[in-house]
Amino acid sequence: MGDDSRFAIPVLDENNDVFWKGKKSREMYNEIDLDIIDINSEPPTEEPFRQYYFMAKCREWVLEFERKNGRRPLAFTQTFGCQMNARDSEKLLGILEQIGFQEAEDEKAELVIYNTCTVRENANLRVYGRLGYLNTLKKKNPNMLIVLCGCMMQEPDVVDKIKKSYRFVDIIFGTHNIFQLAELTFKRLEEKRMTVEVWEGTERIVEELPTERKFSFKSGVNIMFGCNNFCSYCIVPYVRGRERSRRPEDILKEIEKLVKDGVVEIMLLGQNVNSYGKSLEPPVSFASLLKQVAHVEGLERIRFMTSHPKDLSEDLIEVMKSSEKICRHLHLPLQSGSTRILKAMNRKYTKEQYLELVYKIRRAIPDISLTTDIIVGFPGETEEDFQETLQVVREVQFDSAFTFIYSKRTGTAAASMENQVPEKVVKDRFDRLLFEVQQISAQVCGRDVNTCQKVLVESLDDHGEGMVTGRLSNNILVHFPGEPALIGKIVNVYLEESKGFYYIGRQV
Ligand code: SAH
Ligand code: SF4
Ligand code: F3S
Repeated sequence: MGDDSRFAIPVLDENNDVFWKGKKSREMYNEIDLDIIDINSEPPTEEPFRQYYFMAKCREWVLEFERKNGRRPLAFTQTFGCQMNARDSEKLLGILEQIGFQEAEDEKAELVIYNTCTVRENANLRVYGRLGYLNTLKKKNPNMLIVLCGCMMQEPDVVDKIKKSYRFVDIIFGTHNIFQLAELTFKRLEEKRMTVEVWEGTERIVEELPTERKFSFKSGVNIMFGCNNFCSYCIVPYVRGRERSRRPEDILKEIEKLVKDGVVEIMLLGQNVNSYGKSLEPPVSFASLLKQVAHVEGLERIRFMTSHPKDLSEDLIEVMKSSEKICRHLHLPLQSGSTRILKAMNRKYTKEQYLELVYKIRRAIPDISLTTDIIVGFPGETEEDFQETLQVVREVQFDSAFTFIYSKRTGTAAASMENQVPEKVVKDRFDRLLFEVQQISAQVCGRDVNTCQKVLVESLDDHGEGMVTGRLSNNILVHFPGEPALIGKIVNVYLEESKGFYYIGRQV
């Protein structure tokens, strides 16, 4: 920790509270007091203090902007991809708000961040498609800064292409250094040229940065980063790096803080939560973390994403069964119902093992809702393989399934496999799968009709005046007449009618 009194370097006391120059700030996250940072000193080397320093530096620019324009500069973040990216965007917005930016509704802003995804080619194309629009906006607003970050930026080809053909982009960074937003923004403002900083990997997890949550009553919480599974089709391990788990005490501290702040539901996030904690010293299992989280007083609901079938433990099933707080929903990606294809995908389970796991979970927790991800058209997939996928779908009766057309990702093992399936064949299989999935979904999702259930109210219902929308423990939506004041509360609702994918109810 810094001990040079020339610098405004905060130190941590044993309770992890932040001090500056002997003055105590009211803790991390949203309450950093930038006024007490000496911006004329050298930047600290320790994180997160270095970033607090650059936030204070950037704030000078913001104040100058405000003096000239009579308003605060606007910032907009657009998130592509998964929950992990959504959580990262909350952190980015938290940093920007701390600096003094005001959140904008759309891209007409002084700072626009696209937090990108590259899991399928479509995700990339969408980003390129929108960059042209950003360029037009920038021509009208010379103050505008365009920031690209997230998974796409971890691909060297993408960064080369942007450097060459999208010169108007101002800042590029990757998934490992999102915490540096303030530092990189300051650098761009000083140097007045494109700033690129993409780390290939990191061992580091920088805690204690501000976060701006999208919902006041629910929040994602990262429990781990990266992935070690290398499913042969998947680019995530390449762009998110090796698996790193956060320490349970840090996770619990964050959750306790969120609960104090009004959060009643959390979603524990990781690419494969079942391998949580294996590399921690001493190792901690996901089941034991979940047990500890369930003890947090005031927390009402716990969800988690995603669970890889290959290492879902008996202990986890036991913990889920015994805790009321853990939601009755499990997302268990199948990917394919053919053991041969699963092997080529490097998923490390067979069709039979997957089905056995489903039975085991259903025996223990009969009211659980199961959802899944399925890929069609993996290289070498035959009609017989595809029929096996359909068979598993019929047998398991998923509440819902995300279905994807296989997308070739450069650098993955499957990209160089022969027997890529012709587009027309894939499309036809995709349509047949979707039909099957939707039929089943419409039948099984209504099973709780005419019962009373607990609902967490999330928003006003767009479709009906005086209606609100909430979610059951099993993740299904319910619309019912209610006041806006109910948002964020858990209420009892009688499910009067099933509409297939959602219910209409009334509060009781
Ligand atoms: N870690 C999660 C998945 C993250 S990616 C897990 O293992 O379950 C989300 C989903 O995208 C995957 O489950 C998979 O179905 C799909 N996906 C990943 N790579 C893909 C590709 N190359 N083509 C099509 N779908 C893909
Ligand atoms: Fe990708 Fe497989 Fe890791 Fe999921 S577990 S992120 S599908 S490599
Ligand atoms: Fe996409 Fe990255 Fe998530 S590639 S799915 S945003 S981990």
